[in-house]
Amino acid sequence: MSEFHGRMARPGEAQALRDDLQPGSGEGGSMSGGHLVVPRQIDVSHKVILYLEGVTVSFDGFKALNDLSLSIDNGEMRAIIGPNGAGKTTMMDVITGKTRPDAGKVFLGQTLDLTRMSEPEIARSGIGRKFQKPSVFEQASVLENLWLACEGEKGWLRSLRERIAPGQARRIDEVMETVGLTDSRDRMAGSLSHGQKQWLEIGMLLIQEPKLLLLDEPVAGLSDEETEKTAVLLRQLAGKHSVVVVEHDMHFVERLGCRVTVLHQGHVLAEGDLATVQADARVIEVYLGR
Ligand SMILES: Nc1ncnc2c1ncn2[C@@H]1O[C@H](COP(=O)(O)OP(=O)(O)OP(=O)(O)O)[C@@H](O)[C@H]1O
Ligand SMILES: [Mg+2]
Repeated sequence: MSEFHGRMARPGEAQALRDDLQPGSGEGGSMSGGHLVVPRQIDVSHKVILYLEGVTVSFDGFKALNDLSLSIDNGEMRAIIGPNGAGKTTMMDVITGKTRPDAGKVFLGQTLDLTRMSEPEIARSGIGRKFQKPSVFEQASVLENLWLACEGEKGWLRSLRERIAPGQARRIDEVMETVGLTDSRDRMAGSLSHGQKQWLEIGMLLIQEPKLLLLDEPVAGLSDEETEKTAVLLRQLAGKHSVVVVEHDMHFVERLGCRVTVLHQGHVLAEGDLATVQADARVIEVYLGR
């Protein structure tokens, strides 16, 4: 249980799930519990879902992000590559509100200023984030994990089968199918392969129907076959969701077949398809040539 509580206590997740279940939350920007509930609608009338401009983050004078500007279109999949310490994870920390920038703009769609929103508000607005290490509930089944992702921590207070609503069951089945775990629905998550755990966690994000998914190194430690399956899965998600994927595995990035942004010293060094950035002399020097 302590593991479950540990995960559920993660800032931005459990609270967001709980708040989502409150009547009246999520739509229209009403006041709830003394703070503004952010509307979930994201204005993508200009086709852009995520916009960063001039973002700078300093740690004791060291600039982890340095005048970073980036724009992701609605429904786009984008790969972010760059050497260790380039600022990729810090960029995700800024988008999700974990780290506040010293300068710069961070917008979700045209109107949601993420620098002025709390982590739970940002999660609730439709941004789902996957950290590198899978954090599924090892002692619960695949089905239970997905159900808990719908319900939040109060799900632990009830038994699964008596509480599962028909709408939830459909959504869970759909997600289970999407991430390829239908045949494993009653298996304990702890007994899944590393790849299956990663897919389960992606499924737990999908249950929340995020508009934008941020995935930090989703194929680290996966077999070649699992890596390939993950690429197929992510390609399926693009269009319906916007997806930002940080990865070091160039073969995987190639399989994603999407636009690539190269970060170096907290700044965009190059952008384009993989072949173009791989041919860029500056990229070869700082990254691929190592
Ligand atoms: N909380 C922090 N305090 C001090 N320095 C930090 C902090 N977080 C990140 N950094 C530094 O900022 C730089 C960028 O780190 P970040 O984790 O964003 O890189 P990354 O591109 O994700 O690297 P990797 O590919 O190794 O995951 C690094 O030099 C790192 O040491
Ligand atoms: Mg990182």
